[in-house]
Amino acid sequence: MTTRPHDHPGEAMPATRFVLNGTDRAVTHEARVTLLDLLRERLGATGTKKGCAEGACGACTVLLDGERVNACMVLAAAVHGREVTTVEGLAAADGTLHAVQRAFVEQDALQCGYCTPGQVVSAVACIREGHAGSEVEIAEWMSGNLCRCAAYPQIVAAVQQAAAELGTPQGGASGAVQSTAPAARA
Ligand code: FES
Ligand code: FES
Repeated sequence: MTTRPHDHPGEAMPATRFVLNGTDRAVTHEARVTLLDLLRERLGATGTKKGCAEGACGACTVLLDGERVNACMVLAAAVHGREVTTVEGLAAADGTLHAVQRAFVEQDALQCGYCTPGQVVSAVACIREGHAGSEVEIAEWMSGNLCRCAAYPQIVAAVQQAAAELGTPQGGASGAVQSTAPAARA
């Protein structure tokens, strides 16, 4: 059942200001609202999908200050003053797809497509982190993103293709971009 602000008249209403895909946004919402629900239900950013809503599937993956997080496990109020990138924010302003998006198309790395936005966003960070050096490494560092259609071979191939195009940072887990292991992601 959906609750509305007047259902909880004593509840504080956080006013969250943050940057979403390069645009300043300010939203007043109930304290309990997750980033995922804020994006989908208040800001129309429905590219980010809701799968399990408990941090287990990765369908809701977004970048928070450049690091991948599960938006269903982040309170909206926690992104105040921070920068969020969703799948809608990856392509260039003229519509040119991000190298990862293009690779997913060219490798046919999806079936139903429900997991795809989360996979693509996660792959962008995986490559940037320097965790796309081999099939095994990609599988490990993309393991927080489940695919019920089992398109994993094509997903790995897409990440490899994009990594080759973008250039993979050296240094693995100690590379330039700090990251947490998939199992420990927020
Ligand atoms: S919806 Fe499954 S991890 Fe967020
Ligand atoms: S393409 Fe269907 S869940 Fe991944």
